[in-house]
Amino acid sequence: MSVTAHNGLYILSTARTAYALGLNRDGLLTHAYWGARLPYPDDYPAPPSPGAWGPFNNPAHLTPEEYPAWEDMKFIEPCIKVSHADGVRDLSPRFDSANIVEDVLQMRLRDAVYDVMLTLHYRALPAYDLIERWATIGNAGEAPLRLERVFSAQWHPPVGDRARLSHLHGRWFDEMHLTREALHPGVKTLESRRLTSSHHHQPWFALDRGDAAEEHGEVWYGLLDWSGNWKLTAEVTDFFSTRVAIGLNDWDFSWVLATGETFETPHAFAGYTIGGFGAASRSLHDFVRERIQPSPQVVHKVYYNSWEATLFDVDHDSQLRLAKLAASLGAEMFMIDDGWYRGRFSQASGLGDWQPDAQKFPHGLSKLIEEINALGMDFGLWFEPEMVNPDSQLYREHPDWVIHYPTRERRLGRDSLHLNLALEDVQAYLIESISSVLAAHNIRYANWDMNRNISEPGWQKDTGEARELWVRYVYGLYRVWNTLRERHPQVIWQSCSGGGGRIDLGMLRVSDMIWISDNSGAAYRLGIQQGYTQMFPASTMQAWVTDQQTDVPFDFRFHAAMCGLLGIGANITCWTEAEMERARHWISVFKSVRHLIQFGDLYRLCPADERGFSAVAYLSKDRRDGVIFAFRTYIGQHEPSLTLRLHGLNGDARYTIEGFEGVRSGAAWMNLNLQFGLHGGLENLGSTMRRITQVD
Ligand code: GLA
Repeated sequence: MSVTAHNGLYILSTARTAYALGLNRDGLLTHAYWGARLPYPDDYPAPPSPGAWGPFNNPAHLTPEEYPAWEDMKFIEPCIKVSHADGVRDLSPRFDSANIVEDVLQMRLRDAVYDVMLTLHYRALPAYDLIERWATIGNAGEAPLRLERVFSAQWHPPVGDRARLSHLHGRWFDEMHLTREALHPGVKTLESRRLTSSHHHQPWFALDRGDAAEEHGEVWYGLLDWSGNWKLTAEVTDFFSTRVAIGLNDWDFSWVLATGETFETPHAFAGYTIGGFGAASRSLHDFVRERIQPSPQVVHKVYYNSWEATLFDVDHDSQLRLAKLAASLGAEMFMIDDGWYRGRFSQASGLGDWQPDAQKFPHGLSKLIEEINALGMDFGLWFEPEMVNPDSQLYREHPDWVIHYPTRERRLGRDSLHLNLALEDVQAYLIESISSVLAAHNIRYANWDMNRNISEPGWQKDTGEARELWVRYVYGLYRVWNTLRERHPQVIWQSCSGGGGRIDLGMLRVSDMIWISDNSGAAYRLGIQQGYTQMFPASTMQAWVTDQQTDVPFDFRFHAAMCGLLGIGANITCWTEAEMERARHWISVFKSVRHLIQFGDLYRLCPADERGFSAVAYLSKDRRDGVIFAFRTYIGQHEPSLTLRLHGLNGDARYTIEGFEGVRSGAAWMNLNLQFGLHGGLENLGSTMRRITQVD
């Protein structure tokens, strides 16, 4: 049983961890424990009941409540803030009842005056050492209730006053920088106000006491299952306890809950490990692959994408010529990016009109697809469903479908306006127009792109709250995407938002993979990939060899892309025969190791920013087979070579490692300093790929 009640304590247990909560002496639902699973229920502590601290700090301010509401003399970051119709602006949720329904613990809290029911939901995910949390708020009162903040969870990692926060930040073309910083009293806020989860921060965190490392140490980590505006507050209180709250952003948020209505928050997940940041990532990777991904078992193909080769100059002949070259390399999927649909001759026209352009495909798109299929490749297409160019039939017919303020200029982003996916008409149009393309052609792959952020976030509603847009848009997005998936189960989806503008768990429920950055320069990319894999598995990480950073050695460009889902995006009509031959070689090698990269365990052996080197390894789940990729990324480094320690091998099994003498036990290999030359002169970056093979 993953949820047990014992002496007033509710204990959620996973394979290795436990999380406990209960009512404290003041009747507040309080956090009691989060860490290693303990042998006996009596081992867990009672929820704390701190006293007041002078006249300025009531007990509620000091109590690690599971879901603090704004009320009382309480000034920590609350999870919920409401406004009642009579002008009262607080909520006092007090314990009503607890239920365990299947594997979900429901803690029901009720306000004594206003008929509002707050239910906190908890589920343990034993195999991943994760706790899942969300909240629902029901209004049974006679008047509407305005929600002004409604987070998913507040977490209380027991790091005391030594909290260190790891998070990811960046910007377009430069996403996913991993930062670790000490937290001091006060609130550190990470958020997105851009309607997408954003290039700038990802809804993920890891907390430790400043002493965890990649493969050891206590780490508390978590993420949010949401693809829109989000907010994380990491607070070290005046009393040196650390709390992390996460959920929908309350920036410009408001939601009116009419009588009888219920609001459900996005779900938050968090876990605990003693295995360092690596184990934290691997637990999320397994969780995403097994519980979130729509098609986890699919072996992803080697893609060729013609964008860099032809940009908007797409036509039958140019694509067929590229397809023949791509097939000769061993590509298994040919994808036409932007530029295939009606009137799309530059980025300024056509968006929204999702029909193949008859001028570009005079024999029909299906004819080209048949020819591509005959070359042994599947076919895929690009869409940008959420945008519309003013120069399009769709906009001329429905100028009111875009997000705008009537009195303001409609600002363009990349020459486009933003369709309001909260509108059912817009959802229906997108479902029908994209469906008709997917139904009429043999399309096995689709890229859902999204290339601008919001401006003038208006919504001309007759009734209700326009600021619900931030949430209702995301509901609409999920609805359109899920409907397309249901109708066209043969299609594999990629999500892209100018690269990494929408990297979040919600996206991995609807898409099979993510284009993590428009920056595909192989040396830059190692850091971006390292950031991405903190959260998500390599099986979802598209990585292409393109025409960026061509001064990086050719093999290095392949090795970097082979760390994820290898694709080619370069203009291969310009590759030399020697390059084509080398590409053929690496594509074929990749096919022999991709099961490790997609389904195996990832070990970051050397961080991308350390001493000019970077290395990752992937091991099969049965530990029989593995592969190491090592890179020298810094020119003019002092260290002559890279020294690595391996992790994760079976200690008793015997292995060979390509490039090293001897057959040794896993224990031996993991205790040796392995030297990876990677010399190659000061001017050259270097890389190598080595197989790990069990011999008995
Ligand atoms: C965005 C994407 C690119 C490409 C173009 C097409 O910029 O990030 O990969 O698809 O759109 O317009």
